[in-house]
Amino acid sequence: MSVRVAHISDLHVSPERPFFNANMERLFAHLRGERPDILLNTGDLGLFGERDNGDLGCALAQHRELGVECRIVPGNHDVGEHPDIAGADQVNDERLARYRRVVGPDFWVLDLPGWRLVGIDALIAGTMLSGWAEQAEGLRRAAEGRAGRSLALVLHKPLADERYDDEALSPRFSSPGARRAILDALGPHCPALVLCGHVHQYRDAAIGGSRHIWAPPASFVIGDPWQPSYGGKAVGYLDHVFHADGSHEARLRTVRGLVHNDLATLPQVYGDVTARGPGNG
Ligand SMILES: [Fe+2]
Ligand SMILES: [Fe+2]
Repeated sequence: MSVRVAHISDLHVSPERPFFNANMERLFAHLRGERPDILLNTGDLGLFGERDNGDLGCALAQHRELGVECRIVPGNHDVGEHPDIAGADQVNDERLARYRRVVGPDFWVLDLPGWRLVGIDALIAGTMLSGWAEQAEGLRRAAEGRAGRSLALVLHKPLADERYDDEALSPRFSSPGARRAILDALGPHCPALVLCGHVHQYRDAAIGGSRHIWAPPASFVIGDPWQPSYGGKAVGYLDHVFHADGSHEARLRTVRGLVHNDLATLPQVYGDVTARGPGNG
């Protein structure tokens, strides 16, 4: 038996500022036709969902209407930025409580034939914020007790760019401290797969013995030269097939009618990314 998982990411929707809502509606119309077994969302549901507004609810309505089992991990625009990243709207216990109340658990374990998927809230990894100690223990137990299943770790930000021992601090990747906390919890257990979103690019790379696949955004890319190219700057989603023998396939899907928004041409959304200079968007 194989399970089809549609993996979407980075919707960035809002009822008041609906720059990317049409893309979400187009994507979900497509998914209603595709009928995946499970919908996986790697975060940034809201445009500013970390603030107290209707952004998270706006995205959730579409998920519920789809009528398939959904698994979601929060993004920095859902619970706030990791405390290691200065200057941004940071995660706090109030934002975490709101996310958990509106969206649901920010840690989960999903068993499929041959596979165990574990979703974590990497925006609090390695912090004293509410829930991380339990998540680290939950991840450790889930990895240890998976009884021969292949392990997939699901989080919002890529665990690393190219190396786990990279000490550079960048808002694009899990901070060195967050990465260490996650790897410590995994201990000797190496995930076959690490699935994420956040950079708004598609990438498929091998790091530390795991295959790391970044989902493309549903909302926008940041065009050249404003953001470096790590992979492909595409708008779409991923189709995963998880097989009972522990193997897996993934492919990038594009959707007719999705608008290829470029944040560099939309300063009214998050400010003028071109003002930060090439490579800094
Ligand atoms: Fe995003
Ligand atoms: Fe993000």
